[in-house]
Amino acid sequence: MKQERANFATTMGIILATAGSAVGLGNVWRFPYMTGQNGGATFIVIYLACVLILGIPCMISEFIVGRNGASNSARAYKKIGAPFIGVLGLFTGILITSYYAVVSGWCLQYIYASVAGQLRGDANYITQYFTEFSTSAWLPVFWTVAILVMSHLIIRRGVEKGIEHASKLLMPTLFILLLVIVVASCLLPGAWNGIEFMLKPDFTKVSGGLFLDALGQSFYSLSIGMGCLCTYASYYSRKTNLLNSAVQISAVDSLVAILAGLMIFPAAFSVGVNPGSGPSLVFITLPNVFQQAFGSIPVLGTLIATLFYALLSLAALTSLISLHETSTAFLHEEMHASRDTAALVVTVITSVIGALCSLSLGAVDSLSVAGKSLFDIFDFVTGQIFLPVGGMLTCLYLGWRVPKQLVRDEFTNCGTVWARCRWPFLIFLFLIRIVSPLCILAIFLHQMGVI
Ligand code: PHE
Repeated sequence: MKQERANFATTMGIILATAGSAVGLGNVWRFPYMTGQNGGATFIVIYLACVLILGIPCMISEFIVGRNGASNSARAYKKIGAPFIGVLGLFTGILITSYYAVVSGWCLQYIYASVAGQLRGDANYITQYFTEFSTSAWLPVFWTVAILVMSHLIIRRGVEKGIEHASKLLMPTLFILLLVIVVASCLLPGAWNGIEFMLKPDFTKVSGGLFLDALGQSFYSLSIGMGCLCTYASYYSRKTNLLNSAVQISAVDSLVAILAGLMIFPAAFSVGVNPGSGPSLVFITLPNVFQQAFGSIPVLGTLIATLFYALLSLAALTSLISLHETSTAFLHEEMHASRDTAALVVTVITSVIGALCSLSLGAVDSLSVAGKSLFDIFDFVTGQIFLPVGGMLTCLYLGWRVPKQLVRDEFTNCGTVWARCRWPFLIFLFLIRIVSPLCILAIFLHQMGVI
């Protein structure tokens, strides 16, 4: 067996650090607005099916490539004869990091705004506050760069201690706070309409666009398709059970997404915010919930709001770190740059692109193409296209080109797990060879109007 590389120290650390990458703005910000735009429960059902049938096998595939490669994602993919998947992933990663930092920066501003009492007012005021802030020039750029610098500082300190320790503390805290806010939100007057919106599917609403959105969102939320899981898996121990880890991480990730929905929709219906209002949803509904649910005791309202945005920023940070780490590991190992220099280069490049993304939201009109801002374009192209393509190619290569023995050895840890029961491996192989690539292809072709 190969020599072990820098490792996460414990199984719990592995799960939490990878879940830290998975759980982030994708769950609390993107999932609710995608669900809102796609009509609620129907989207959630298809989303969960995508996680189960496509997400988990793709995640295991990426783990296999990463642990087998024991290196950055570009080299790991080169080892299985598919360097272009690694390169596509790095490109995707830079784009996601840039616009992800913009939204993470909004969370930082909202911590400040909660403490300073700027989020008190009626629903119109809160809507206007968000619009004015997000379309202004300097403040969002400042916060974008600020969060990138934070992730830079953690990355510089190394993988194991910084990432693993932070995740162990932050993830459970976020979870508990989510539960508290879910309860508060579901107790608001009129909350039931929101719960119903999330639980009662209406399959007449199904469209090709909905499938593509659900597919893209599941990959985005699980961090699949851009080499991030591959990089983290390169730090896994040879004893890590990849199937169990993938199932556990996906379960945690989906649970947090559903909880985030249960936090947003009852409140959105209660205060009369349109659930289909898009990316601004979380930043407009939540301040309203905090006021209505806890506003009668002023300090409590401020405290909960501040705590929530702080934790959301931290969840975003753990994802940002994993995105940052993917490019940093590449520059460090392939370009022979020191870890510090590599991290600095990534920070500078993503700060510049991130600033452009932020400015494209209103401050600078010329940063739009065909009426869509750079921010929206990056979100769509990376989330809905590049990630599924990266995941699909990984499955195809692993399923058809890589020697089966290598895949089996990684899946079974050289015959030490799943040794007696062969079904999990056979099902996995069937899914990555046939089901995942065909489903993803069909969704793309349908979206393009070919089928
Ligand atoms: N999965 C992260 C989230 O849900 C986003 C992400 C995508 C992180 C791709 C890494 C790679 O917020």
